[in-house]
Amino acid sequence: MIELRGITQIYPGPQGPVEALRGIDLHVTPGEVFGIIGRSGAGKSSLVRVINLLNRPTKGQVVVAGRDMTQLDDAALRAARREIGMVFQHFNLLSSRTVFENAALPLELAGMSGAAIRQRVGPLLELVGLAHLADRYPAQISGGQKQRVGIARALASNPKVLLSDEATSALDPETTRSILDLLRQVNRELGVTVVLITHQMQVIKQIADRVAVIDAGRIVEMGPVVEIFTRPRQDITKSLIDEIVPQELPASVLARVRALAARLAPGDSGQLMRLSYAGEQAYEPILSHLIRELGLDLSILHGQIDEIQEQTFGSLAVYASGSMARIGAAIDYLRTQGVVVNTVEVN
Ligand SMILES: Nc1ncnc2c1ncn2[C@@H]1O[C@H](COP(=O)(O)OP(=O)(O)OP(=O)(O)O)[C@@H](O)[C@H]1O
Ligand SMILES: [Mg+2]
Repeated sequence: MIELRGITQIYPGPQGPVEALRGIDLHVTPGEVFGIIGRSGAGKSSLVRVINLLNRPTKGQVVVAGRDMTQLDDAALRAARREIGMVFQHFNLLSSRTVFENAALPLELAGMSGAAIRQRVGPLLELVGLAHLADRYPAQISGGQKQRVGIARALASNPKVLLSDEATSALDPETTRSILDLLRQVNRELGVTVVLITHQMQVIKQIADRVAVIDAGRIVEMGPVVEIFTRPRQDITKSLIDEIVPQELPASVLARVRALAARLAPGDSGQLMRLSYAGEQAYEPILSHLIRELGLDLSILHGQIDEIQEQTFGSLAVYASGSMARIGAAIDYLRTQGVVVNTVEVN
C-alpha cells in the first residue's frame, strides 16, 4: 500500500543543512496498522509527511496505492492526496466552523454539492460518535471530541490510508484509549490502512500490528509488535519498551536474590533469569515442567502478564536453584519452548 525507497530528507538550517531522514526503506501492507516510534527529533513527522508529499523528499521514491507520488503533477497529486487522510496532534480544526462544517471541509473543497455532503458527513459523525454535537463549535467540545472531528474530516474523502501524527499525545490516557479504539475500528470496519506516529510504546502496544523504531533519521529496528516486545535488540527500543516492561529489575528483587543465593544447599547453584514469552501456550505448564521433570526449585520474583494483539505476553523474573547441569537443561528447555531467556548476574 505504501512503499518508501531510499528516502532522504534534508532541511536547510541556519547552521547548515539538517539531515532529518537518512535512507528510509519501508513497506506498509494493505489493511495493517503500522506504528512508527521514536524520540523527539528522530524524524517521525518528517517521515509521515513524506507519505502524502506534504514534504517532498530530497531523495527517494514514494509509492502509495501503486502511484509514484513524486512523479505526479499538481492536479494528480491533489487527487492522490484525497486517498490519504491525516490526523494531527493539535487537531487543526477551524474555530469558526461547526463540527459538521469541519468534517465537511475536504468535500466542500472538492466541489461536492450540499446534499451529497450531508449524505456523506451524517454517517461519518455517527461513526465517530459525534452526531449529537454536529452544530457545536470546536471551543465547545473536549479534546477527545476534537480529535473525533479530525478523524471524521480525515475520512471524509474515503481514503485508503490514514496517517496519524501523535493524534493522542495531547489527550489523557483514557481518552487516548478510546481514540485508539476508534482508529482500530476504522481500520477493521472500513479496511483503511493506518500509519501512526508516536513516542509512546503504550500506543504501539494497543493498536499496531507492526512497528518501526526510528532514531536519528534511520529505521533501527522493525517487526511485528509482539516480536519487538519479546526480543528488542537495540538500546533505543529497550528504553522505549521500558515504559511498559521495566528492563531493569527493582533493587528489592535483587536483594531477595542475594538472600536466596545465601541459602543455597551445598553443591547447588542459583541463576536469576528473565523470561519473555508471547503466544498461546501458558507459562505455568512450562514452569511446572522445570520443577517436576528437572527437579529445580523456582522462585517467581517479579513480572507481569499482559496482552498484545490478542496474544498473551509475559515477562517474568525467576530464580532457579539446583545443580548447574539442571539449570543448563532448564534454559535449553525454555528456549525450545520459544521462551526468550536472559540470564542476569547478581553480585
Ligand atoms: N522545516 C524544518 N526545517 C529545518 N529543520 C527541520 C524542519 N522540520 C524538522 N526539522 C528537523 O529535523 C529533525 C527531525 O524533525 P521531526 O519533526 O521529523 O522529528 P519528530 O520525530 O517528529 O519529533 P517530535 O517527536 O518532537 O515531533 C529535527 O532535528 C528537526 O529539528
Ligand atoms: Mg513530530
